[in-house]
Amino acid sequence: MRVCVVGTGYVGLVTGACLAKVGHQVQCVDVRPEVVEAINAGRSPIVEPGLDDILKAGVAEGHFRASLSLQEGMEGAEIVLVAVGTPTTKGDIDLRYVREAAEGIGRTLAGSSAYRVVTVKSTVVPGTTDGLVRTSLETTSGRKAGQFGLCMNPEFLREGCAVEDFLEPDRIVIGQWDERSGDTLAKMYSPFSCPVVRTGLRNAELIKYTANALLASMISFSNQIAMICESLDGVDVDEVFTGVHLDRRLSPVVDGRRVHPGLLAYLKAGAGYGGSCFPKDVLALRQFAQECGVPAPLLEAVMAVNRSRASHLADLVEEPLGGAEGKKVAVLGLTFKPFTDDLRESPALAAVEELLRRGAVVRAYDPEVPPGRTDPHLPSGLELFPNAIDAVREAQAVVLATAWPEFLGLDWGAVCAAMPRPVIVDGRNALKEVQWPHGALYRPIGRRTEV
Ligand code: UGA
Repeated sequence: MRVCVVGTGYVGLVTGACLAKVGHQVQCVDVRPEVVEAINAGRSPIVEPGLDDILKAGVAEGHFRASLSLQEGMEGAEIVLVAVGTPTTKGDIDLRYVREAAEGIGRTLAGSSAYRVVTVKSTVVPGTTDGLVRTSLETTSGRKAGQFGLCMNPEFLREGCAVEDFLEPDRIVIGQWDERSGDTLAKMYSPFSCPVVRTGLRNAELIKYTANALLASMISFSNQIAMICESLDGVDVDEVFTGVHLDRRLSPVVDGRRVHPGLLAYLKAGAGYGGSCFPKDVLALRQFAQECGVPAPLLEAVMAVNRSRASHLADLVEEPLGGAEGKKVAVLGLTFKPFTDDLRESPALAAVEELLRRGAVVRAYDPEVPPGRTDPHLPSGLELFPNAIDAVREAQAVVLATAWPEFLGLDWGAVCAAMPRPVIVDGRNALKEVQWPHGALYRPIGRRTEV
């Protein structure tokens, strides 16, 4: 099938390249000339394992290309996927790019009588597809929904394994305006063999928010329990959750063997959630609930617990040092999770900012954030180092903020030897197996430590 993808951000690019890989003819459209040029040269403008290879192959085989022109991109396309950003502006979902995309698509629809299914992939609040998107399309095209198809098809891609998630999906959700729209989109997904949920547009929109809000709630729930654990003697949050995870309803026994679903990784205490999705989506859902006149105290609490993680990490550093003012603190890991270079809403950066605010001298190392990297998310005053040992040299405390595997294998003896009186705050509970040298103070999450 011919597919047009509008927006070559993270979702659009992965979706387009993967659809080309499974045999579709894909045209991506973006307004940024440098991105279009990179894609057509077979280079991925974002870091995502496996993407470079499939993108290069797609371009070389002529299945995948990018264009600046929507008209050109939609040429012959049966499906038009809208994968533009839905950022938060003043605490509310900003649908400007979705509206602009819908208007542009509508104008192109006006020029031809071909049946095309416009499909929203961007994360949008319930009512957007059959409201703003449909209205924009109908107004600019002069046609009614039904004469063109309309679907909402949320994505469930995790950064760092987005290609794998796309090619081996758990489920495909197709929210449809009418049967014909859904049938056409289902045809695009025929190479995939997972369950397909055919439903209404608003259900599809809410499935996405509910999925992300659930995962974020599990993280905040775990951190809430961790705070209770830290107030008690002889309690460790990881042991508590080991006991909880073994409930067969959470980790079933199949053919005599215990299965540990990926979901359990979110029932773990740490530095909190971040990234470009959870914080934005929980906030948008809370805002949407408010607009519907529905109180959302649970979502408020999920956000409040998450916000408090940065100051809690700073407290763990400050207590043994007797204050943070003028103290050298090394932060290991800056990205919002390992295996990405993404710094958006990173809990590690929230901790850095809090430490800087309290007067600490903060230095950091992250394998994806080399010295010299310029990024608007990096706070000024943060000094970057090319390796962990240089970052920790002479530091009064180290904070492990992102659990990159290389930190687990660090020579912690050497790290401690490079510090006058080592204090290690393990914001990810990733270093529990380390044999700490005498005199080092190890402070994990969710376990009381005397200072
Ligand atoms: C998340 C969802 O997992 C995807 O299903 C969804 O499609 C995507 O948002 C989206 O809305 O686009 P992503 O933000 O890439 O994907 O990251 P996750 O791997 O889920 O991590 C989100 C947060 O959860 C991070 O702060 C991470 O540190 C935390 N996390 C992640 C855990 O606490 N434990 C884990 O095992 C994985």
